[in-house]
Amino acid sequence: MIDVAAGGAQKRRMTERFTGSFTQQEPIPEDGIEAALAVLRHGRLHRYNTAPDELSETALLEQEVAAMTGARYALAVASGGYALGCALRAVGVQPGDTVLTNAFTLAPVPGAIASVGATPVFVGVTEDLVIDLDDLATKLAQARVLMLSHMRGHLCDMDRLMALCDAAGVTVIEDCAHTMGAAWNGVPSGRHGAVGCYSTQTYKHVNSGEGGFLVTDDEEIAARAVILSGSYMLYERHLAAPGPEVFERVKYHTPNVSGRMDNLRAAILRPQLRDLDTQVERWNDRYRAVEDGLRDVPGLTVIDRPAPERYVGSSIQLLLLDWAAEAVQEVLRRCAARGVELKWFGGAEPVAFTSRYDSWRYAESVPLPRTDRVLAGLLDMRLPLTFSVDDCAQIARIIRAEVSAVHQRG
Ligand SMILES: Cc1ncc(COP(=O)(O)O)c(C=O)c1O
Repeated sequence: MIDVAAGGAQKRRMTERFTGSFTQQEPIPEDGIEAALAVLRHGRLHRYNTAPDELSETALLEQEVAAMTGARYALAVASGGYALGCALRAVGVQPGDTVLTNAFTLAPVPGAIASVGATPVFVGVTEDLVIDLDDLATKLAQARVLMLSHMRGHLCDMDRLMALCDAAGVTVIEDCAHTMGAAWNGVPSGRHGAVGCYSTQTYKHVNSGEGGFLVTDDEEIAARAVILSGSYMLYERHLAAPGPEVFERVKYHTPNVSGRMDNLRAAILRPQLRDLDTQVERWNDRYRAVEDGLRDVPGLTVIDRPAPERYVGSSIQLLLLDWAAEAVQEVLRRCAARGVELKWFGGAEPVAFTSRYDSWRYAESVPLPRTDRVLAGLLDMRLPLTFSVDDCAQIARIIRAEVSAVHQRG
């Protein structure tokens, strides 16, 4: 007997098409638009251009970032990449130094290291998509600084990482471009190392087009970062910076490498920061809908999230471990034909945002076979909040059907 209902469901799995946009974020909230209009109307966009007794939107934003993360000091800057370079300078990295960083990250991370004349040394990635702490342990003697990228939102065992780095005297700078709002064992990402850096670029967790923050508890790092960012001698207008006596110690020795944030972006960001926790829950509802739909698909691995990790599911990663490259590409093509955009970290050539440690030819690298195996099977997908939970369930059905079809053919 033919089961008509089952046949219909099977047909839907093989024909339905997703029509949403993987690059469309939500609009700026109305209170952000109102605040931006107020800045445009008074015209004082530069952060140090304030009326008597006025506190700039940028200074207020910094105060709120410090409160949100529990950091003593916060600085708003022009981009996440700028925050990374500024942090490296502020902790004292010099041209010719080596800096440890993840082999699995995006180009602005080794780029920030190269921008200060330093050389990245790449540390491998595990199948859980976090930095390989065993590989790190063998490389700690090579550098004084680790720029740790919480790539695609995956936090490693931060307690073990900090114990290793503290014992070796290695300063940790956290790249939290994908982890604003995340935490390990209740400690916000960005608050384990000496400096935490965040991005507020459109695809991140708060959106000002371009922008970034850094946070720290160290008064000299904070003062140097403020001067580096282009404060001239107006640092007393900051509300989340150390006192003038700390600036007195560093001001003659710290260059100005301008990369300030402006009041327009700060105005847009302040209401978004207030909404961050709610947005995290919405992202995670969508993440779980995709994750649930993709459990137990032969050949496909979803990444288990450890209990101490509070993550922000603004993107999801899937592994087709040990698949032939042609089969992975076939999955990508078939999903794309049904409206589902997956990125692949295994391609030989860098494409759009996706590149590999051996694509960055300005930085020498030694082959990392375990990392290469993971990257060869690594798929990545954004989950913008403009998708509904039902959209996410549909996306999962499509991926499931296409992965299964290619896998069954062997
Ligand atoms: C992992 C990672 N770190 C740093 C950055 C740099 O952020 P921005 O684009 O704000 O310079 C990005 C941006 O995409 C990123 O993905």
